[in-house]
Amino acid sequence: MADLNAKLQNFRAPTFPGSYFFVLEGIEGSGKTTQINFLKSSFEKLDYRVLIVREPGGTIFGEKLRQAILQSNTDIHPLSEAFLFASSRAQLLHEVVLPELEKPRTIVLMDRYLFSTIAYQGVARGLGPELVISLHQYFPLNIIPHLTFYLKISVETSFLRQKHRNLPKDYFESRGKDFYLKLSSGYDACLNMFSSFIYINAEMDNLGVSTQMLGAIHKRFPDLSSLQVTQV
Ligand code: TMP
Repeated sequence: MADLNAKLQNFRAPTFPGSYFFVLEGIEGSGKTTQINFLKSSFEKLDYRVLIVREPGGTIFGEKLRQAILQSNTDIHPLSEAFLFASSRAQLLHEVVLPELEKPRTIVLMDRYLFSTIAYQGVARGLGPELVISLHQYFPLNIIPHLTFYLKISVETSFLRQKHRNLPKDYFESRGKDFYLKLSSGYDACLNMFSSFIYINAEMDNLGVSTQMLGAIHKRFPDLSSLQVTQV
């Protein structure tokens, strides 16, 4: 435990004045895409430059890794998965996130990040959260967002929303209820590890979810107090 705490101390949010890095996390159907678009509109109303990126992917190299994993027909070793996601992430940080945040008044909004690797590879695929944290001890992988919104829904709500969407399922989405329960416990574990990882009740309607997210932003960042909920 002492070792884990020491490793957690190595994580840092970027320090480019006036620019912010926010991440949305949650299981399938938690509403990340909708809420990212709401946040984008809200920040644009305040004349911020807003960039949306997704993981895995966001660079040419990362999109290749995304395909290699998500379109795989054979089982990949969980450690291979963890390294692939971490490679895609390091490249995205180096090539896009950090250079963009360096520009004034920039908001980077990211769909999934390190916390997905903790939940999916660390807990659901059994590597253990500590191993994933160990893989992320080196720059730029030790960069964490200013805030991460954990859009929490139950596994039942996730399945119901996926059924309504009726989209083809990828390598992870096609797994059963036990896998999803482990994912939820992996995300719950992040609440105890990272003070910037914020629980949001995503069973509520879209406006209710956005309101909670903005409340968390206002509380932590007084210079963003004029940010208002915007529906797109
Ligand atoms: P999505 O962009 O459609 O959510 O697909 C990404 C999939 O990859 C999703 O099932 C979650 C999974 N994933 C991991 O297993 N580990 C990771 O570190 C990341 C970023 C995603």
